Amino acid sequence: MTVSTPSVLPPMNDSYGRTIRDLRVSLTDRCNFRCMYCLPETEQAANFYRSKFDPINNPRPKTIPLPPLKTREEILRLEEIERLVRVAVSLGINKVRLTGGEPLLRRGLEDLIARISKLPGLDDLALTTNGFLFEEKGPALAEAGLRRISFSLDSLDRENFRKITGRDGLGSVLRSIQLARQLELTPIKVNAVIIRGINDQEIVPLAQFAMEQEIAMRFIEFMPLDSGRQWLKELVVPGREIFERLSRAFEMEQVVPAHAAETARRWRVKGKAGEIGIIAPVTEPFCGACNRIRLTADGQVRTCLFSVVEHDIKWLLRSGASDERLRERFRSIVSLKEDRHHIGEEEFVQPARSMSCIGG
Ligand code: GTP
Ligand code: 5AD
Ligand code: SF4
Repeated sequence: MTVSTPSVLPPMNDSYGRTIRDLRVSLTDRCNFRCMYCLPETEQAANFYRSKFDPINNPRPKTIPLPPLKTREEILRLEEIERLVRVAVSLGINKVRLTGGEPLLRRGLEDLIARISKLPGLDDLALTTNGFLFEEKGPALAEAGLRRISFSLDSLDRENFRKITGRDGLGSVLRSIQLARQLELTPIKVNAVIIRGINDQEIVPLAQFAMEQEIAMRFIEFMPLDSGRQWLKELVVPGREIFERLSRAFEMEQVVPAHAAETARRWRVKGKAGEIGIIAPVTEPFCGACNRIRLTADGQVRTCLFSVVEHDIKWLLRSGASDERLRERFRSIVSLKEDRHHIGEEEFVQPARSMSCIGG
């Protein structure tokens, strides 16, 4: 294997003048949860929320197959991921987030973290998880060099949590959050996808939880990336409405963004610890400052969450290409990055793969 040159090279710019600094790597397309906004397991779960708003005009198939899983051979090996990350870092990527599916299902994760956390030029290494296996795996990940963590937590009510995720996992996720604090994987972020009629009544309690636990809670608008293809705009609780509901309960003070590419608009509640963020990609897109690309578990580069084309890099990697050749490939892929998503427009096409295959 050729040794990569450190990042004295020009960074990756797209054709709209955006510099790419953030690589999000999906380590597996498998998941041990079945969140209704991502990978609904049953027809009942997928149709539960849709039927409330569109009981008659539902032309979609009744049974919702789960997306086919990639085979072992199709999935990048950990050394392959490490090499692509190293090449990307030599092109100016300074932040890597490991995602899934559920990344804690990937064997050898701590070895991968140990190797990439030491890369010169990489300032930030984070992980997004549903938290279910974190109690078991957390200490080894922190030891290996993981710096930050984001959990998914859509409900504080055990039964609602089970309805949304398909698993009785609330207790375990709450314990994982405590453990992450002990391991100092801070600031701890917690993501809640808000769906009207499902968990919007929990916005204020979740914000309260953030203050008590001194964590960063982020409310996310539901995006059309669910494998069941049941997304409807009526199910989206706009960021504006989330903010208004919070403002009625708390005295909100806006936090100045740390950088332009932040996805969340952030607030603090006067006199309280913790932070509240609102991520509103549907009603207030932030594509103009996007600095992200994604690598899927099967070696495809995606230049947008909503890309309808993926760019293969695995073939080149497996054909013995030099680092220089891989760098050229990254650059040419980035030059094709879309200007924005088209959710809500006539021509919008939902990507073929769901969030469980793309990573959040
Ligand atoms: P950091 O900013 O590194 O802390 O990452 P994070 O994963 O904690 O937060 P981030 O803001 O990157 O992502 C949180 C959620 O925002 C994701 O799970 C997605 O739902 C959404 N999101 C992130 N990036 C994008 C994007 O490029 N486009 C859209 N539409 N949504 C995004
Ligand atoms: N819309 C918005 N966010 C989603 N996530 C998964 N599916 C969706 C969706 N359809 C988020 C979850 C998780 C992260 C990986 O992606 O909150 O935290
Ligand atoms: Fe699994 Fe995350 Fe998708 Fe939920 S959102 S099904 S935890 S990949």
